[in-house]
Amino acid sequence: MWIGYKILIFFSLMTEICAGTHYLSGGEVDPGLSFTRNHTSFEGTRHKRAIFQGEYCRRFGCCEARDDTCVTQFYEANALCYCDSFCERDTSDCCPDYKSFCREGKDGPPLQQPLDPEGCSRDSQHYEEGSVIKENCNFCTCSGQQWKCSQHVCLVLPELIDHINKGDYGWTAQNYSQFWGMTLEEGFKFRLGTLPPSPMLLSMNEMTASYPRADLPEVFIASYKWPGWTHGPLDQKNCAASWAFSTASVAADRIAIQSKGRYTANLSPQNLISCCAKNRHGCNSGSIDRAWWFLRKRGLVSHACYPLFKEQSTNNNSCAMASRSDGRGKRHATRPCPNSFEKSNRIYQCSPPYRISSNETEIMREIIQNGPVQAIMQVHEDFFYYKTGIYRHVVSTNEEPEKYRKLRTHAVKLTGWGTLRGAQGKKEKFWIAANSWGKSWGENGYFRILRGVNESDIEKLIIAAWGQLTSSDDP
Ligand SMILES: *[C@@H]1O[C@H](CO)[C@@H](O)[C@H](O)[C@H]1NC(C)=O
Ligand SMILES: *[C@@H]1O[C@H](CO)[C@@H](O)[C@H](O)[C@H]1NC(C)=O
Ligand SMILES: *[C@@H]1O[C@H](CO)[C@@H](O)[C@H](O)[C@H]1NC(C)=O
Ligand SMILES: *[C@@H]1O[C@H](CO)[C@@H](O)[C@H](O)[C@H]1NC(C)=O
Ligand SMILES: *[C@@H]1O[C@H](CO)[C@@H](O)[C@H](O)[C@H]1NC(C)=O
Repeated sequence: MWIGYKILIFFSLMTEICAGTHYLSGGEVDPGLSFTRNHTSFEGTRHKRAIFQGEYCRRFGCCEARDDTCVTQFYEANALCYCDSFCERDTSDCCPDYKSFCREGKDGPPLQQPLDPEGCSRDSQHYEEGSVIKENCNFCTCSGQQWKCSQHVCLVLPELIDHINKGDYGWTAQNYSQFWGMTLEEGFKFRLGTLPPSPMLLSMNEMTASYPRADLPEVFIASYKWPGWTHGPLDQKNCAASWAFSTASVAADRIAIQSKGRYTANLSPQNLISCCAKNRHGCNSGSIDRAWWFLRKRGLVSHACYPLFKEQSTNNNSCAMASRSDGRGKRHATRPCPNSFEKSNRIYQCSPPYRISSNETEIMREIIQNGPVQAIMQVHEDFFYYKTGIYRHVVSTNEEPEKYRKLRTHAVKLTGWGTLRGAQGKKEKFWIAANSWGKSWGENGYFRILRGVNESDIEKLIIAAWGQLTSSDDP
């Protein structure tokens, strides 16, 4: 009778304190039944008890809170004994040596810290029990006078920023507020957005520019040669569509250069994101070849005509306008611009894209002769921190490298090159590239990256196209 009563107390205690933990996996299970089921598995422990003569805590240690791995059989009560404060009672603890070993043998009461004040503190501020705060990308809950935090790897790792800035890597890193609070996973999911190049794209024939080799200058900046005809970086924000941003930007520059400044409008990445049905996922990554297919077959309106949505949502796939052929080789938009400021809904088209060799000299010749090109690169976690200098991937010194590393495809625009004293005072060659993370990132939205060594695969796949200008383009 007494035993049954004790077991009942024991189990109701467990259900109360540890509801939802692994021991009583289903709260509604009849406790007695659950116990019986586990009973046989403790036959062995019962045997051990005889050996240890009640030295439960001495044998298993004093756990702070209930720990199912620190358990032994309480023979007299036919119940389980936890060698910790979990089953401490006012009158007696179920482990006979709990008090003598865990409480009295030590200076002061080790397990019962002063309960006053309750809650947790942070930066000399007091938080009540149950408060939740965000620490970079993790949420911390005040529980039992301690902060318990989720364990995500954050995109911004202050230690890695420090490591880069203390080393002589040729570039410096910054803690960007727009990335603070994102997990590494989220950063790679939302800020890039180009699918790995298809075999078709990789097997494209390479074209060669006819620019004389010997005449390549040491420094070249597209916007100096073609002022007003090239276009600066936009901000894709959390829309994983670098496939659209880089393609629209390269196409716009090339149309302006090829038309000798007649058509200088920037082209609309939003038009691509919302209307390129073959890249249906829009802000959820897309392929470069489909973007170029769309520029050739359907064409894009200007960025002013079809501006970026303030709120990007991956499920808003409604396309505001289509284009239709007039039968004379020219396409026209089916509707006015989806904004009241811009009147021109002119459609711009491109030739099929072509590939430029990975040879550094060939890429330079193509840029100086025909304009900026698209480059597909591999982004590592440190690239997000780039502030200024010549980027090269810096390996984190972390002890758990795999967890902190990531690599994914991104697309950018190469707009020039130069040389500069970089890491270790050495003269280094670099590309100038436009990213799509806004002007507050990097060098006014641009970055420089090592040239001629295929850094982050930047020279692996270089793509460009011609503007499709016909006589019917004349106003
Ligand atoms: C109790 O029994 C259940 C089912 O038989 C088992 O899954 C669980 O691991 C057992 N618990 C312990 C502490 O042995
Ligand atoms: C990084 O920037 C965020 C937001 O601007 C700031 O809250 C955080 O304290 C900074 N972290 C470090 C380590 O400087
Ligand atoms: C969804 O798309 C429509 C038209 O394309 C646009 O007007 C609207 O603002 C978009 N909604 C959001 C939430 O982005
Ligand atoms: C790149 O092309 C140039 C000229 O065609 C040639 O001199 C050079 O050796 C090539 N470089 C590589 C790495 O193939
Ligand atoms: C660049 O590096 C990538 C990956 O290491 C490799 O697949 C590619 O062939 C390289 N390209 C050149 C031109 O070296």
